[in-house]
Amino acid sequence: MIKAAIMGYGTVGSGVYEVIKKNQVSINKKVGQELKVQYVLDLREFPGDPVMDVLTHDFEDIIKDDEVKIVAEVMGGLHPAYEFTKRCLEAGKSVCTSNKELVAEHGAELIRIAKDHQVNYLFEASVGGGIPIIRPLNSSLTADVIVEISGILNGTTNYMLTKMSREGLNYGDVLKEAQAKGYAELHPEADVEGWDACRKIAILTSLASGNQVDFHDIYTEGITKVTSEDFAYAKKMGCAIKLLAVSKKMGETYCAMVAPALVRKENPLYMVNDVFNAVCVEGNMLGASMFYGSGAGKLPTASAVAGDMVDAARHIGKVVTIFWNPEKLTLAPKEKMTH
Ligand code: HSE
Repeated sequence: MIKAAIMGYGTVGSGVYEVIKKNQVSINKKVGQELKVQYVLDLREFPGDPVMDVLTHDFEDIIKDDEVKIVAEVMGGLHPAYEFTKRCLEAGKSVCTSNKELVAEHGAELIRIAKDHQVNYLFEASVGGGIPIIRPLNSSLTADVIVEISGILNGTTNYMLTKMSREGLNYGDVLKEAQAKGYAELHPEADVEGWDACRKIAILTSLASGNQVDFHDIYTEGITKVTSEDFAYAKKMGCAIKLLAVSKKMGETYCAMVAPALVRKENPLYMVNDVFNAVCVEGNMLGASMFYGSGAGKLPTASAVAGDMVDAARHIGKVVTIFWNPEKLTLAPKEKMTH
């Protein structure tokens, strides 16, 4: 038996618990032994919850239990997620996360700490919700030079833009809907101001280049200034308005930005609606390929976290190499971006 812990019992954390419980038989088969959720850490009081038998409010319970080999960090935010993740890795526990804030900020460092302790730091759920994109970039596409990554990387804003343009719903109402559906961040400014998409394109560019991209360097504009007139113009021109995140190779570096854009019918991203995300990756040998699926929400995101947990359980004692060095990549200025 391999013991696992889930740190955080919000939307994603409860989803991870549900995925593992529902698919326990098939997961055990794939791991080759039982993967047992032994602890669910919730720093809030949580009386009467169905996970009561495994619930703890004390992080030390997880750290002290040497049989816990796999930890899901789905708390979100930088602190205490950073400190908890570091301590888990240093204690010989693999960590699997959906926390894009933490991955964008400390990804390279946490990968190195994991490697030093012969464990894994996996973060498939940090970009594109349930869509596999981290693993393909790090493995199947690794012989290519990545020429361009472009996509819709935020489910909340794509849902909002879809509803606002199709149904004429107003910004405030549709944001509330996205929050009720569990798509939005705790502080939804991260979605609507484009910061969430910015962190995700920074993570993808770091993986494509192999160096640390500082997301603060990426020009970022969200959807807060999009008006009903803009939707009317877009419709007249046969276009849709999408919040695009783009990163293009420019010589030895990349140029990246996040901004709302007019997308023509011929562009495959035109068809990406509601909470769906899509990432188009162009490799210098492969040509173009597109990854598409549910970009946010409880179960799709939890599926990616639980997938990493299964993978980590199958790789105990072995390190999955992730090519991401801490040396900073200086991005090309946004003026270099051509369409
Ligand atoms: N708030 C994020 C989104 C969640 O809407 O895409 C998934 O990362």
